[in-house]
Amino acid sequence: MSHDHHHDDTSFADLLDLDGDVLHEYWADALSFVRRAAGDDQRQRIVDLGAGTGTGTLRLAHRFAGAEVIAVDASAEMLHRVRAKALDQGLADRVTTIHADLDEGWPVPGPVDVTWASLSLHHLADPDRVLRDVHAATRPGGLIAVAEFPVQIRFLADEAGSALETRLLELFGRHQAERLPELGSDWAARLTAAGFTLLDERTFDIDLAPAPPAAADYAAIWFGRVRRHADDLDPADAAALSALLDGDGPGSLRRRELRIRGARTVTLARR
Ligand SMILES: C[S@@+](CC[C@H](N)C(=O)[O-])C[C@H]1O[C@@H](n2cnc3c(N)ncnc32)[C@H](O)[C@@H]1O
Repeated sequence: MSHDHHHDDTSFADLLDLDGDVLHEYWADALSFVRRAAGDDQRQRIVDLGAGTGTGTLRLAHRFAGAEVIAVDASAEMLHRVRAKALDQGLADRVTTIHADLDEGWPVPGPVDVTWASLSLHHLADPDRVLRDVHAATRPGGLIAVAEFPVQIRFLADEAGSALETRLLELFGRHQAERLPELGSDWAARLTAAGFTLLDERTFDIDLAPAPPAAADYAAIWFGRVRRHADDLDPADAAALSALLDGDGPGSLRRRELRIRGARTVTLARR
């Protein structure tokens, strides 16, 4: 399998759950944007491509009354969380999961009306092939929405923290670009190349100050991912990073003022 192998699947799943929680306003706005573009047809087949823990899946099921929502992911643990949430929210009859590696072929039988792909296409070995497969599966008039991040998310509000964060993100960004070469690509152009017609593209700015309570946990997982590359940091920055991640310690995320800044871009296209 060529998709990204996470060192720690559980903390990655927690990161995705926290993303849905901390950025719930963005998620609501983004899915309203998709819902409006999809029109009035109530009975829809929706695919959440690289669904993760199902933040999009469940929100789509709530927004598209009567729709069948299919969460596709290569991780069994992620899909387990999707099914647990569907059960909890009384949506188990309309939410299904398909455990499949998208790099190995198109796994969804039958026609599709709406595809939502959030932060997943950049994990694929050949996203263009997958987009062509989505196009072939989409009913004429059907929709695809791709959500990606145009800038890295930031947490530290004070001047010194912000300068440290810039250096950490620079390091993390380099490693991420190496690991995920499709990151930051022009998805609008690639949707067009796959046969779709572009409808709209919107950037949702995120600026949460003060950050919501779960922000410290969310930030801790992010900074924890940076720590994997701590060997490449100068000793002072490595020490500052450790202090951020030191539970309840004096320099810890839990004790600092956090302000979440970032953005997500949603690109909409129609078959
Ligand atoms: C960054 S997460 C995004 C999850 C979710 N869409 C969200 O926005 O919260 C990317 C997801 O894509 C999945 N993924 C990565 N490569 C994949 C592949 N080749 N086939 C299927 N799923 C894949 C991962 O398991 C992960 O759950």
